[in-house]
Amino acid sequence: MLTKHFLAKAYMNRQNESLLTDVIGVPFQLGYAVFWDFWHVNSPVSSLDTGKIGAQNFYYYKKHRMTAKDREKANKITLSIYESLIKSNFFMISGKNKQYYSYIYDRYFEYIDLPRVFVQVHSERKLKDQQEIRIQFDANQAKSIENDQYLTILNQSLAKVDDDLTVLAPTNRCGWFVYKIKDDSLNYRIDLTNFEDDLDDYLIYLDHSHIWNLKRQYGGILSGRSGSGKTSLILSLIYLLMQKSNKNQSSKSIEIWVCDGKNDELGAVMSQILPASHVGVGVETAELVHKLVKKSDERYKYMSKKRKKNPELAFADFTKFGFKMIVVFIDEQSAITASLTDSKARKQYQNDLLRLVQTSRASGIIPVISMQQANANSMGGNLGTAIREQLGGLRVIMGSANMITTQDKQMIFNESVELPISKFRGVGSGYLQTSDMQAPEAFEAPLLPTKSEDLYKLLSSNK
Ligand SMILES: Nc1ncnc2c1ncn2[C@@H]1O[C@H](COP(=O)(O)OP(=O)(O)OP(=O)(O)O)[C@@H](O)[C@H]1O
Ligand SMILES: [Mg+2]
Repeated sequence: MLTKHFLAKAYMNRQNESLLTDVIGVPFQLGYAVFWDFWHVNSPVSSLDTGKIGAQNFYYYKKHRMTAKDREKANKITLSIYESLIKSNFFMISGKNKQYYSYIYDRYFEYIDLPRVFVQVHSERKLKDQQEIRIQFDANQAKSIENDQYLTILNQSLAKVDDDLTVLAPTNRCGWFVYKIKDDSLNYRIDLTNFEDDLDDYLIYLDHSHIWNLKRQYGGILSGRSGSGKTSLILSLIYLLMQKSNKNQSSKSIEIWVCDGKNDELGAVMSQILPASHVGVGVETAELVHKLVKKSDERYKYMSKKRKKNPELAFADFTKFGFKMIVVFIDEQSAITASLTDSKARKQYQNDLLRLVQTSRASGIIPVISMQQANANSMGGNLGTAIREQLGGLRVIMGSANMITTQDKQMIFNESVELPISKFRGVGSGYLQTSDMQAPEAFEAPLLPTKSEDLYKLLSSNK
């Protein structure tokens, strides 16, 4: 997009300077100031202002049904981004390095070509998840924004207009870099005491901007220090699944199994709510896992028998065979391994677990495993790595970025990613990544009632 870039110092002298040019110039400047400049936010480095941006992006705003107030905000953000692009030299000088003089601005300038920017913001809550920034970088510019520094620059431009907005790594769509805007003015946290789910089968909200699709994103792994909120997250996932299951037809309902390695509140509460055969505590969990492996094998056998008879079922999943999805939560995985003192029993348990995670997609038995530290030992050496790699559907580390160890970060998110800055503090906040997401993002686990009797009442309401 062509615009005038003001030059700090003129390389050339004003030509034909005379009293006459000032006589013409002054009324021009005055008129411009009174009728246009005064009414818009303008830039000290270029001739761009919010009024011009509004006119240029008129059709984009119209297409996305942005209100006058939203447009005003989008104009300000766009201006701030254009300025940052100029300051970071993301432009090309067009017109043979020529410099001109403008009577209107009383400044020298050169023509530059800037990447086009569109900003979509909404004040209406329902539309907030559509908020985004689009920038049309050319191939050279795209290469230079590859480092994360540009994200910081972009976030600074956003913060100048609205402190609650941040962007994450962009996706590339038809030559446009699309940055989704995260809006912290919203409370993304789900309050379980007052929550109705409106999603399809096998999909649950983790917060108002993250959804877990259990049928496509198999298995879950949760990690975090003691007291960071792992068990609470498991309890809320159980509640959400039970609520969903309750509303569904029986074939699509979800069966929940719970293993509590520490033999703590999770096992105590859930054994009151779920059938006794679906809950195991301490060493019992090894038996429970073994039972599930047998179940998985039975499902396998049944499905292959049916498939042989009916080739149309070759690509059908477990639901087509009348099987319910089973989600098994294994809390405090390392406590279970540690409690199995007999090396044979431990080996057997680890093999069972590996088999369970490997067959989970086909059999519809989905394991979600938690542990305080995601090091290889908590899963049992190399076997543990194999197990961990199969649990990529949902990966979570609870806690704030400074509490999370580098090792945990690498183990869970599989690479040395930088965790984005999070505004969430305190228990119940953390980072998550589903297998559909490019990088981990901050989130807050659903809010549970603080009183234990209220929590029990809530959980048993979907019995
Ligand atoms: N989502 C939440 N909603 C409400 N309270 C929470 C939430 N998450 C954590 N808490 C509070 O923090 C306390 C500790 O959380 P939790 O027991 O879930 O941690 P943990 O990671 O399982 O710890 P440990 O590793 O010791 O078992 C809870 O008893 C609860 O008071
Ligand atoms: Mg716990």
